[in-house]
Amino acid sequence: MSCAGSTPDPGAAAPALAPQPLCPSGALAERGRAVVFDLVCRGEPMRAFALRIDGRVVAYLNRCVHRPVEMEWQPCDFLDALDRRWIVCSMHGAHYDAGSGRCAAGPCGGGTLTPVPVLERDGRVWWQPTRELQPPAASRCSVPG
Ligand code: FES
Repeated sequence: MSCAGSTPDPGAAAPALAPQPLCPSGALAERGRAVVFDLVCRGEPMRAFALRIDGRVVAYLNRCVHRPVEMEWQPCDFLDALDRRWIVCSMHGAHYDAGSGRCAAGPCGGGTLTPVPVLERDGRVWWQPTRELQPPAASRCSVPG
């Protein structure tokens, strides 16, 4: 996994962490607004976002493949306004398939958004830390209003 521009450190070790609570399942409507949350990717504070696509929760780092910038058009709003199928970068219009994070059009060069592992159980959504993706010391989580 890449943190979009950071230098890999294959020797880095981190203790396994429990899944981190993200939001109630009901906060993520099908192709609706995202839940945005903080994490640390290889020591660098970043934001990530979760969406519900075809009934499944997906999450990605909020970092465009074209340039390392956050992508939303409005707070918590990442999807195109027409059919809510694409994550569209507000900077130069790169289009990513919302279900896979793969570049479909625009200046993302065939790249893929960095996924964040998520799970949903008992009416709640969690994200799973990995060796590269760790919880921040203090978290702020934006749930669509
Ligand atoms: S920074 Fe996202 S398309 Fe250019």
